[in-house]
Amino acid sequence: MLTPILQTDTGPLLHKAVEEAARLLKAGEIVALPTETVYGLAADAFNPAAVAKVFEAKERPSFDPLIVHLPNKKMLDEVAEVPAEIQPIIQKLVEKMWPGPLTLVLPKKASIPDIVTAGLPSVAVRMSKNAVFRRVAEALGRPIAAPSANRFGSISPTSANAVVAELDGRIPLIVDGGACLCGLESTIIKVEPGSPKPIITILRPGPITPEDLKPYGRVKHASRTVVDEATEAPGQLASHYAPRTPLRLLSSPEDFKPEPGKRYALMSYRGDASDGYVGLADWVHVQILSPGKGKLPEAAVRFFYVLRELDRLGVDEIIAEPMHEHGMGIAMMDKLRRAAVKS
Ligand code: TXA
Ligand code: MG
Repeated sequence: MLTPILQTDTGPLLHKAVEEAARLLKAGEIVALPTETVYGLAADAFNPAAVAKVFEAKERPSFDPLIVHLPNKKMLDEVAEVPAEIQPIIQKLVEKMWPGPLTLVLPKKASIPDIVTAGLPSVAVRMSKNAVFRRVAEALGRPIAAPSANRFGSISPTSANAVVAELDGRIPLIVDGGACLCGLESTIIKVEPGSPKPIITILRPGPITPEDLKPYGRVKHASRTVVDEATEAPGQLASHYAPRTPLRLLSSPEDFKPEPGKRYALMSYRGDASDGYVGLADWVHVQILSPGKGKLPEAAVRFFYVLRELDRLGVDEIIAEPMHEHGMGIAMMDKLRRAAVKS
């Protein structure tokens, strides 16, 4: 391995890792850090040269803006303009949901360099709940721009090992904070005034579900066509989160007839024979997302790990079972559909 990894399991190790990460960030370097969703590739958001290194290491196109992570709630005013009409709902969301996996798209302030937002007049902001991330953000005392720590278009990393597989030798440090507790990238929303309730549009589904957001406003989903116009959430490209192995998402067991001589692996939701998928073929391997009988949060934690493991097998095709399309199942089904699109 070329990139050093610092552990955080004990107090002294954590202290050393936080100090070293903050030192590198202050020096305009980039560092992979754990968050509660997926690992992020962090840079000082106020330093355009540092942010440019993030785009370079990920081979990310410059039109795809980054999420800005705040060290505290107060700093929201320094990076974003909250329009008066939506001030009350934004305040409530920040109070109840931060720190946590909810990203707000708001008009940006001049403090945020254009490279961070890919020239957009808006900025995506959140505050991570991960204890290691928070310590680093507090030590830096500035907002951190951080996309997921994978090569562009590839599977998001939910462990330090997965970051190594994506970026080894391309970045100066990985901080290992263990497996990510949510496992899916943050929910991204924008808020507009509406009567009687403000309108919340989900630009990217994630761990904060439509039910979680319902008490705050009328929840809408951005349509495929809107996001694909590359104006709303430019990273939500039709083909994304793609394993190298072709992936097919089934809607029912009848959809699949194995071709002789081909090698298949199954991404099973519950691993339950009665669902009708496990017996469909002589699978090279079966990975179960939720052995706990169809629990969506459990499936979410394992989702990117399982996808990565199946991709390593070198089979001809990964076959994915559908899962319940509510709660966190909405985000996973969205990702499976994007993974299944041939670029
Ligand atoms: O959980 C997460 O959000 C993780 C962790 C590291 O925080 N980050 C993450 O970043 O998933 P990334 O770069 O992989 O995805 C960010 C998404 C992209 O789809 C991008 O287009 C969208 O956020 N985005 C960023 N700024 C935006 C803006 N101003 N308007 C709309 N979408 C924006
Ligand atoms: Mg990403």
